Parts: sequence; structure tokens; C-alpha cells
Amino acid sequence: TTNLVEQSKKLCAYAAVDNNLKPNHKIIGIGSGSTVVYVAERIGQLSNKSDFVCIPTGFQSKQLIIDNKLQLGGLEENPIIDIAFDGADEIDSDLNAIKGGGACLLQEKLVADSAKEFIIVADDRKNTGILGKGWNKGIPIEVIPNAYNKIINELNSIGGNAKVRSGLPAKAGPAITDNGNFIVDCDFGQVPASQVDELNKKIKLMVGVVETGFFVKMAQKAYIGNADGTVTTLS
Ligand code: A5P
Repeated sequence: TTNLVEQSKKLCAYAAVDNNLKPNHKIIGIGSGSTVVYVAERIGQLSNKSDFVCIPTGFQSKQLIIDNKLQLGGLEENPIIDIAFDGADEIDSDLNAIKGGGACLLQEKLVADSAKEFIIVADDRKNTGILGKGWNKGIPIEVIPNAYNKIINELNSIGGNAKVRSGLPAKAGPAITDNGNFIVDCDFGQVPASQVDELNKKIKLMVGVVETGFFVKMAQKAYIGNADGTVTTLS
């Protein structure tokens, strides 16, 4: 099964690049995680790869760009991105997504928000139709370090079950993001598509919250790699 999942990741990533990357795209956002590895691999195979500038969403993503000998750029010089590709932890029927399982949600959301087109690539385990149905680790929320207990209390008071993400086994104490913040993971059970926007806004307004892992209707399309070797497109 591991090989099948790996194959689905590769299939959807290759399809997303082949069907969407056009010669007029100059600035490309490259997301984080294990699926987007195949997006970078595919772009790295193009004979015109040096025409593109790639904007990373974190440390792993930056290394991916370097490893595939793509041109690395920053959001500072490239605030408008033509197209961005990224993975997701879960996707619902309205193309809302949960992201941040790898703790990269803030830079991922900056890149997605700066992109004219944002495309999600994921294997079919992520395509559950409703957020919180398959992903049971909670909504990742990036917070200012000394605010974590304040925010945990506030999240619990609106019906969540929140805890600070641990850095174990690599590190005793909290996981630290690429931006030097903490992650609070908050379980809200299943969140129907009609309630995602409102819940996201409530969390975002809590003082000390930097960003949430809810990507509310940011994607135009999702490429889903199925175990049977087919690719489903959601749009
Ligand atoms: C990183 O913070 C996440 O949002 C990733 O994009 C997400 O976890 C997808 O990763 P995989 O493709 O490895 O599932």
C-alpha cells in the first residue's frame, strides 16, 4: 500500500503540472510536504525550467527547489505569483482545506494568497468531503509563543480541544515553526463546509493567533491521485 500511495502522489502531482503550467507562467509557488516533492521533480524535468522563478513555503520546500536545480526566489521580490502548487492534509467538497500538518501553514498561506492560481495535489485519503472527518489531529494554528495558553483557553471555550504541538522526539518542548512560532492543534470534530469560513474568522480574531490552517476556498482546483492509478480533478 505504501507504494500505491506514493504512486498516487506522483500521478496527481505530474497531472497538475502537465495540465496547468503554461509558458506564460513565470513565478511559481512550491508548497511543502511529501506530495509536492513530485511537483518540483516534474518542473525540474522541463527543458525550459530556467525560465521559472520558484517561491518556497518553508525550509523543506526551499531545499526541494535547490535539489531540482530550479531558480529560487523570495516573496519580497515576487509578491505576485502566477501559479502555486501545494499539498493538503484534508480537502472538502467546497475545496476548503486543512493545512499545517507539517507546521508550514503561515508561509503556505502567504504563497497561496499571492497566487493567481492555487492548485492542491493530494492522494485520495485526503479527499474526504468534510474537514475533520479523516484528519483527526486537529486544525493547526500558528501562534505567538507566549500566547499559547491564552489561545488554548479561548479555543476550548468555543468548543475545541486544543493542545500545543510537541517537538518530541527530536526536541523536548514545543515544535517551532520556520517563523519561530508555536503550533496549537485544535480538534473541532467534523466541520461542515458551510461553517468553515465562520470558524476560521473566529480563530483568526483571537489575539496572538498568527494564522490558521483552514484554507477557505483558496484553491481553484485539486488533483486527487487515486489508488487505482486514475486522477480526479475537483474544481
Ligand atoms: C505542511 O504544513 C502541510 O500543509 C502540507 O502541505 C501537508 O501536510 C501535505 O503534506 P503531504 O503531501 O506530505 O501529505
